[in-house]
Amino acid sequence: MQLKSADDLSRMRDAGRVVRAVLDEVAAAAVAGVSTAELDRLAEARTIERGAVPAFKGYLGYPASICISVNEEVVHGIPSERRVLRDGDVVGLDFGAILGGFHGDAAETVLVGRGSPEAARLVETTRAALGAGVEAARAGGRLGDIGAAVQRTAEAAGYSVVREFVGHGIGRKLHEPPQVPNFGAPGTGAWLRPGLVLAIEPMVNAGLPGVRTLEDGWTAVTEDGRLSAHFEHTVAITEEGPEILTRAGI
Ligand code: MF3
Ligand code: CO
Repeated sequence: MQLKSADDLSRMRDAGRVVRAVLDEVAAAAVAGVSTAELDRLAEARTIERGAVPAFKGYLGYPASICISVNEEVVHGIPSERRVLRDGDVVGLDFGAILGGFHGDAAETVLVGRGSPEAARLVETTRAALGAGVEAARAGGRLGDIGAAVQRTAEAAGYSVVREFVGHGIGRKLHEPPQVPNFGAPGTGAWLRPGLVLAIEPMVNAGLPGVRTLEDGWTAVTEDGRLSAHFEHTVAITEEGPEILTRAGI
């Protein structure tokens, strides 16, 4: 596992700030009648304006700048002119950028309009699961503490966590060791140390945990067709506790 220097962390704060700003703009633009392709163009334009580069475009052949996963789509939804958002949609927005040689990566899920009470509860639970995972990202703790905190939060609400996709270390590369599962047992796995930067990204399903990938080779959907939500932060482990590099208001 690659530990970051103070200078690395300062660059990662800059990358995280770009990711936050772009994600906020895209979230505000995710209204009924807008296509997900329009949101992709917005994300790319705002990123380049800030002197950064979209991290996902071309990564392992991914064709767009942002992943937009609607309703039963879990992650890696590909933006399309044909996918027009409708009132009540549950829209996962996952975005990464590169600035100064370092990556930032974050996701959030928004409702188009007010959304149903069930959808709102799923979204708020997934946000809380990320919060619990971040709180567990402390020096002296273990990787399994993070997964356990996420899993406990999701399952206490009657939901399930996806097993096939995990969080990751992040830095000069989008995906660095270690993998960060959204499940596990406290007190197990690698030790967490200052300088470790992790992308923690719970995917929470309203129903069963199973997912499958569509014929486009990317879009992951719930096997049971029920809703899914996704939140992600890039988090640095410091002596003073977790520092969220992609938080609001930075
Ligand atoms: N946040 C996701 C991840 O860390 C997004 C990657 S999508 C890809 O895996 F297109 F870049 F692959
Ligand atoms: Co990620």
